[in-house]
Amino acid sequence: MTVLLYNASARKHGNTATLGERLLRGIPHTTIHLMDHQLNFVQDNRDTERPQADTTDDYAALMAQMRSADDIVLATPVYWYDMAAPLKVFMDRWFDSYTNDFPFQGKRVYLLVVGADQPEVKATGITNAVRYSCEWLQMNFRGVAAVTADGPNDVAAMTTLPASFVALRLNLEKIV
Ligand SMILES: Cc1cc2nc3c(=O)[nH]c(=O)nc-3n(C[C@H](O)[C@H](O)[C@H](O)COP(=O)(O)O)c2cc1C
Repeated sequence: MTVLLYNASARKHGNTATLGERLLRGIPHTTIHLMDHQLNFVQDNRDTERPQADTTDDYAALMAQMRSADDIVLATPVYWYDMAAPLKVFMDRWFDSYTNDFPFQGKRVYLLVVGADQPEVKATGITNAVRYSCEWLQMNFRGVAAVTADGPNDVAAMTTLPASFVALRLNLEKIV
């Protein structure tokens, strides 16, 4: 089983990354900090003669890694009540892969959301975006945990995490 953790935060060791590592504690995985990679905005070439692909950035390499993944954890801070831009750009680019028959089908996807201001209430758009994208791409959306945190070490200092996080962890343990 191959597990990938995508951290969309600008802080590589902040709450989002820490939450991801806590979710995957004891489970072998690879962490990808999206901020370490150059990703161009998606082009929509449907009405042109150009191929729906952009080989001038790191996207192809990221997707080569994702090809063999069974389980994908998408971890994002809340920025302006939405997902952080690196995740949005990465997901937009899935259109390239979708167009070129990338095998998304059956991959299991878990979502972690960290925000300062009631993310479980005010950032539900992130969950909808990921859930419906999974549906479209025939991936298996396994759930979301939203955690309230702001200072860079807040999650590290938490002795208990919300029930949604515990449920997600149990969900993962069932398949490892
Ligand atoms: C650019 C920016 C925008 C933010 N916007 C929101 C927001 O709209 N809602 C919210 O709850 N928190 C917001 N926050 C707070 C972060 O979500 C919060 O600090 C989170 O813990 C950051 O995660 P990190 O430690 O992984 O970077 C924002 C932070 C930044 C830097």
